[in-house]
Amino acid sequence: VTASVPLHCLEDLRAAAAAALPQDVWDFLSGGSGDELTLDANREALRSRFVVPRVLRDVSACTTNASLLGRPVSMPVGIAPLAFHRLFHEQGEIATARAAKMAGVPFVVSTMSSTAIEDVAATGASVWLQSYWLRDAQRSFDLIARAEAAGCEAIVLTVDMPWMGRRLRDIRNRFALPDTIEAVNLGLGPGSVAHRSHEGSSALAAHTSLAFSAALTWSQVDAIRERTRLPLVLKGILSPDDAAEAAEHGVAAVIVSNHGGRQLDGTVATIDVLAEISQAVAGRCEVLVDGGFRTGTDILKALALGADGVLVGRPAMWGLAVGGTDGVRQMLDLLGTELRDALGLAGCESVRAARALRTFTSRSGADRNPYQNEGSRT
Ligand SMILES: Cc1cc2nc3c(=O)[nH]c(=O)nc-3n(C[C@H](O)[C@H](O)[C@H](O)COP(=O)(O)O)c2cc1C
Repeated sequence: VTASVPLHCLEDLRAAAAAALPQDVWDFLSGGSGDELTLDANREALRSRFVVPRVLRDVSACTTNASLLGRPVSMPVGIAPLAFHRLFHEQGEIATARAAKMAGVPFVVSTMSSTAIEDVAATGASVWLQSYWLRDAQRSFDLIARAEAAGCEAIVLTVDMPWMGRRLRDIRNRFALPDTIEAVNLGLGPGSVAHRSHEGSSALAAHTSLAFSAALTWSQVDAIRERTRLPLVLKGILSPDDAAEAAEHGVAAVIVSNHGGRQLDGTVATIDVLAEISQAVAGRCEVLVDGGFRTGTDILKALALGADGVLVGRPAMWGLAVGGTDGVRQMLDLLGTELRDALGLAGCESVRAARALRTFTSRSGADRNPYQNEGSRT
């Protein structure tokens, strides 16, 4: 990692990435929709949640080892799907996948990846394909078949994006993809709608409204399940009722997510619905969560509230921007170190033991140190 300042936590990586990235790319990464209330709420809710530790338990063999979707992982963490990694580093998704492989955690590659899924899978990482439901259903099925043939280990269907939320930073910046970066899985080459800048809109939102279907329902969930032997995961669940329905439809996991505050602004923070969702699915499928997880104690809180694992999104791009594979690896190593520290200090020898911890909510954490919008550069 080339950053000139020492990097001891993810916040250090964030600051280094903020200094390194062009403003419009930084805004694309950091921003949320509308007033960014939900973006901020994810962090505030985590800062307001406190853990009740246990003592007098032998933690000398404390380990972060766990399993996700039935496969062993070095810690209950994965990299969330994010579009266009090549905006952040020349090697894009390949660099991210290599880091995930070295760290022993899964990498969820986006439909909107800037590297072909076959090339990402060829790194040998544990790769899950994130799928959007396209207007041309056959293209969605083809992409899932390609993922399966390439050796991907799961399909993650994102269900919170009938169209793109109004991301004002991108609209103001007239954000568009540079010609050198393509949505290769969709054959979206230079000169596409996503590359054409327009006053009053984000080119990515324009492309999404043309290419994505807003008609996704449970019937497509069933259709995907019938066509692939890979575990199916639904991403973007916030309601315990939807989570229960997902379990009835035989999904392998749900991801409790508000898309990092990028879809409907004003939706609830993910950590605040986690306990109810894990109760609603009652062990019938795994429960993952994302949205603002930045420290080992954040992950501990998710485990205590019933999560099987946590996905991290933006921090992977902070690492990528700062140091390619090494930067993403450093981000994951820091989280692993912090998680082990948190588990042991909470009296938990294992990830499983953390699930029996109690938590307590107090706004004092948020108030004492008023949260600064993560997307600001200061
Ligand atoms: C720049 C960016 C691109 C994203 N692209 C996708 C995507 O292609 N598919 C998807 O399901 N979610 C996408 N997301 C949402 C993330 O998967 C994740 O839900 C969100 O970033 C929350 O985690 P975080 O707070 O750790 O970033 C994206 C998020 C960001 C910030």
